[in-house]
Amino acid sequence: MTDASREWWLDELAHAGAEHLDREYVEGYERKAGYDPLPDVEALQRNGLTTDSVVVDLGAGTGVFAIAAAALCRQVIAVDVSPAMTAMLRSRLLQLGVDNVTVVQGGFLSYEHHGAPADFVFSRNALHQVPDFWKAIALTRAAALLRRGGVMRLKDLVFDFEPSDADAKIAAWLSGAVDDPARGWTAAELAEHVRLEYSTYSWIFEPMIERCGFEIVDREYVRSAYGTYTCLLRAA
Ligand SMILES: C[S@@+](CC[C@H](N)C(=O)[O-])C[C@H]1O[C@@H](n2cnc3c(N)ncnc32)[C@H](O)[C@@H]1O
Repeated sequence: MTDASREWWLDELAHAGAEHLDREYVEGYERKAGYDPLPDVEALQRNGLTTDSVVVDLGAGTGVFAIAAAALCRQVIAVDVSPAMTAMLRSRLLQLGVDNVTVVQGGFLSYEHHGAPADFVFSRNALHQVPDFWKAIALTRAAALLRRGGVMRLKDLVFDFEPSDADAKIAAWLSGAVDDPARGWTAAELAEHVRLEYSTYSWIFEPMIERCGFEIVDREYVRSAYGTYTCLLRAA
């Protein structure tokens, strides 16, 4: 029996975020996100990325990170549950003539890794799509696809404050939002994120990462809402 056939298993597509399945939204996604992958690629290099490395990018979206990392490593496996995202990434790879990114339509909870264990797992702003119970399963699955000594760089929307500060912290976060939804996330979109998606507190998330087999060697929070973690797979 595969994971996906279990009756209680999460339907990842149903939790993927309707916008991520919408071709029009996906076409404008990179402009909206304005993501510069360089600091993350450099962080992987500092942690041993070489031209021989294999990187798995979970929730890869349109592949901004995957394409940047591919220039410096042997292979990137870019996994995303959204057919619209994977279609956009495939056409981008063709346009650019990049041939060492393998695109897989799959999810944190369904991707099956074949071949040698990966050297790196990367994931940015995708894990909050699933509730905490599933995050822990996703992290355990990520640990299982890494080689011994492998590295996970994980970025997500994570709330780094106490519940008693939620009003003030969320208000401050929303006050920094943009007005133009084509160039970022508006206050209404961020409010919807808080209401309907599954960002958790840093003091829940960090022990979860560790419980799932990793040692967090570096962490950073920006605006109390964006967490970045560099994690080493702990020896079994
Ligand atoms: C906000 S986008 C981030 C995309 C990319 N990582 C980036 O930083 O630009 C979130 C991505 O996660 C994907 N996603 C949502 N749920 C997922 C799941 N369960 N497994 C894998 N990808 C998922 C969405 O389709 C979307 O492409």
